[in-house]
Amino acid sequence: MKKLSLTLAALSLLVASSAMAQQKPKVDPARVDAAIKAAFPEFPAPPEVWQPRLTPDETMKQCSASNNSPPKAIFAAIEKREMATIQYPADGKFLGDWKKGEAIAQSGYGLRFTDYPSTRPNGGNCYACHQLNKAEVSYGTIGPPLLGYGKLRDFKPAEAKIAYEKIYDSHATFPCSLMPRFGTNKILSMEQMQDLVALLMSPDSPVNK
Ligand code: HEC
Repeated sequence: MKKLSLTLAALSLLVASSAMAQQKPKVDPARVDAAIKAAFPEFPAPPEVWQPRLTPDETMKQCSASNNSPPKAIFAAIEKREMATIQYPADGKFLGDWKKGEAIAQSGYGLRFTDYPSTRPNGGNCYACHQLNKAEVSYGTIGPPLLGYGKLRDFKPAEAKIAYEKIYDSHATFPCSLMPRFGTNKILSMEQMQDLVALLMSPDSPVNK
């Protein structure tokens, strides 16, 4: 813990001094990488669990380099690359069980320090960013409210596919989205994503009441 706070203090000093100089920070990216890696100690998970997640893929690199506003050509390249990662249910059915979907949307379990080694499936933590139904008063506002999602779209089957694609890989339709790529990054299973589509698209779901 001591090591972690010292590293963070060192990082914020670097940031503050370069901001004062009002110029592009002259920080060696290799030093920043090394400081970030050092901030993830061996406890409770071994480095091989963290290290892969600290290495940005091509899309993350392009989003970071452009402060999440990539030029048109890169925007299109990200959409194409991310769309190609989406795998669809073999039977073409996008709607699972909305009750299970609600539990997944509520659960923030998974991928945290304290979740290693993991003992149950990851959650989607959708409420952290979205309002989904009127009864749940605890929700975040980083994402748009999803109240009445299916009803507003006349429960059209084509819309279920669009919702599935959004959950599977948010960047496929909105490059540099702040929403996690639940399928592409293997956070949720296909079945869990179908349950979430049912939560959004089923007429019985509290989202559409
Ligand atoms: C860290 C915040 C965050 C989390 C967690 C998150 N989202 Fe999002 N979501 C966003 C943002 C921001 C947008 C708008 C940009 C975009 O479309 O990618 C969005 C957009 C969406 C949209 C498209 C809305 C529209 O009007 O077209 C859907 C559907 C959606 N999210 C569903 C979900 C579901 C289901 C979950 C949980 C599995 C989830 N989101 C988790 C931030 C988040």
